[in-house]
Amino acid sequence: MLDALHQFDWIESQTTRQDRLALLSIREALAGSLGTYHYLEVGSHLGGSLQPHIADRRCSRIVSIDPRPCEQPDERWSTTYQYPGNSTARMLENLARVPGADLTKLQTFDCSSWELSPSALGTLVDFVFIDGEHTDAAATKDFHAVRRLTKPDGVIAFHDCGVVLEPILKARRATTGWWAHYPGSSVIAVALGTGLASALLAAGWTDELPVPRFYRLRRATARLARAHRPAAPIE
Ligand SMILES: C[S@@+](CC[C@H](N)C(=O)[O-])C[C@H]1O[C@@H](n2cnc3c(N)ncnc32)[C@H](O)[C@@H]1O
Repeated sequence: MLDALHQFDWIESQTTRQDRLALLSIREALAGSLGTYHYLEVGSHLGGSLQPHIADRRCSRIVSIDPRPCEQPDERWSTTYQYPGNSTARMLENLARVPGADLTKLQTFDCSSWELSPSALGTLVDFVFIDGEHTDAAATKDFHAVRRLTKPDGVIAFHDCGVVLEPILKARRATTGWWAHYPGSSVIAVALGTGLASALLAAGWTDELPVPRFYRLRRATARLARAHRPAAPIE
């Protein structure tokens, strides 16, 4: 699995090493059980988290959903988070440089997940990664929207679980499946069916989820620090 981390070498991704191991282990569990899989991502930015799938022959279809704002709200900050030059064209250029990339299987939608009807997709997907707008409201809407787009035995993973833990915990109360965290990562996932839980357990996932109080405190501290950040010195 450690060698597989090199699949993230081509495009900058806003994920840590543990996040990548978490995502790769979901992919291996799915591909191991199904042979091939369909992947959907909410929030693709430069294409960093799409790159392992674009070159993987077992991935027969990729859907990327991203309305491409230049700035977006974020629960951590009192101001918006900037995404200069955010575009699908730039992402496609990046992905084309990944060795073995097959861009013909990629479909992009410049909108939010909740604006997309299941009929626009055609078939349901096996693996969803939610990494779009990091607010409680958007994470909640993304989860409900992608559930309609995911197969009954698929997997839905959230990134930055510390930032959007409250909507994740709410979704857990309302959704049956095996909810798990990959230790050291900021990824929480739900295996909607029963089939994949044992493969994910074997890959190191645990159903002990992070403690909300800790993250609430961290989120509030980050917000305060940002609000009171001193202005840049005048040169
Ligand atoms: C954290 S970045 C994604 C990083 C990427 N997954 C990676 O690991 O390389 C967040 C992305 O979410 C996108 N975004 C903002 N609002 C969104 C929404 N409503 N739905 C989907 N994506 C959104 C932004 O345009 C940005 O590209």
